[in-house]
Amino acid sequence: MSKVNLVTGMRPTGKLHLGHYKGVIENLVKLQDEFNCFYFVADWHALTTKFDKTETLKDDKFNVIIDWLASGVDPEKATIYIQSQIPEIAQMHVLLSMITPNNWAERDPTLKDMVKIIRSGDENIQMSYGLLGYPVLMSADIMTFNAAVVPVGIDQVAHLEITRDIARRFNNLYKTELFNEPKPRLTQVSLLKGVDGQKMGKSFHNDIKISDDEKTTSEKIMKGITDRSRLRKNDPGHPDDCEVIFDYYKVFADEETVNCTRQECVAGTRGCADCKRQIAKIINEAFGSVREKRIQYVQNPKIVQDIIMNGCEKARPIARETLAKAYDVMNLS
Ligand code: TRP
Ligand code: SF4
Repeated sequence: MSKVNLVTGMRPTGKLHLGHYKGVIENLVKLQDEFNCFYFVADWHALTTKFDKTETLKDDKFNVIIDWLASGVDPEKATIYIQSQIPEIAQMHVLLSMITPNNWAERDPTLKDMVKIIRSGDENIQMSYGLLGYPVLMSADIMTFNAAVVPVGIDQVAHLEITRDIARRFNNLYKTELFNEPKPRLTQVSLLKGVDGQKMGKSFHNDIKISDDEKTTSEKIMKGITDRSRLRKNDPGHPDDCEVIFDYYKVFADEETVNCTRQECVAGTRGCADCKRQIAKIINEAFGSVREKRIQYVQNPKIVQDIIMNGCEKARPIARETLAKAYDVMNLS
């Protein structure tokens, strides 16, 4: 039996961090066995807000893809490509843009939030034609590969609602059953905090990257905040108030280690510095082979380029076929 198509994209934000790893990438690795997976880097979507900052775009795309590959996303199982290299997606976008009422996009709460975020920062970006079309472009990404399942974070669900509406409208208008109404599959939000206790994020400068080496990782962890009420090494600690370091234990250490850490912390027999050194070691060990693989890709970019090229070549005929069907029912062919 052929597997159901699954599509998901990631904007090219550059080197990914451990929060991405836990929240998104582990999921990509798991899903590639269950579904016929299409994973792509959404570089056109990056332009919706960063059209004037494309200097790092090439590197950012490369870094996202090598983080995926090093973490176990397998080009033999999943089709890996770059959005802008599949012109059929843009063609699909044109078709869908014609049948999408403006107010569907205008009402998209995620888009409204995005504009608010943009306005609140120093990048005073205005609503462009392309940004308004964000959910339509996302629909084209999904519908070109006729995905039935789309793993997304909670912030993307509103866009996907619009995709379902667009797919339904297309099917009704052209009396066809060509398109699935794709279902979201919620990506578990990673609870991983940055070393300063805020949400882990590149822009907060508090993240630990997948690509950080052992020394950098350890240094970052040594700066991590702990139970703030604990003044001396032998004071009894409160692991549940230690939202950075103890949480890292919960995410990366085995149960026995977590329990032991809790006991020793509460008893005051474990100092925070030692505790940090231990979790740094655990994290470094966990990512050792991922980082080694990553270095291989960095040193052999040709391998990565070939993987991307092959992925694009695999994706395009599928995209072409869907587009031809859409042309057909719309009397364009
Ligand atoms: N908008 C998504 C994000 O910012 C990325 C994305 C673009 C996407 N096209 C998609 C996700 C299609 C799923 C399906 O995270
Ligand atoms: Fe946190 Fe470990 Fe210090 Fe306890 S000993 S407060 S768990 S860093």
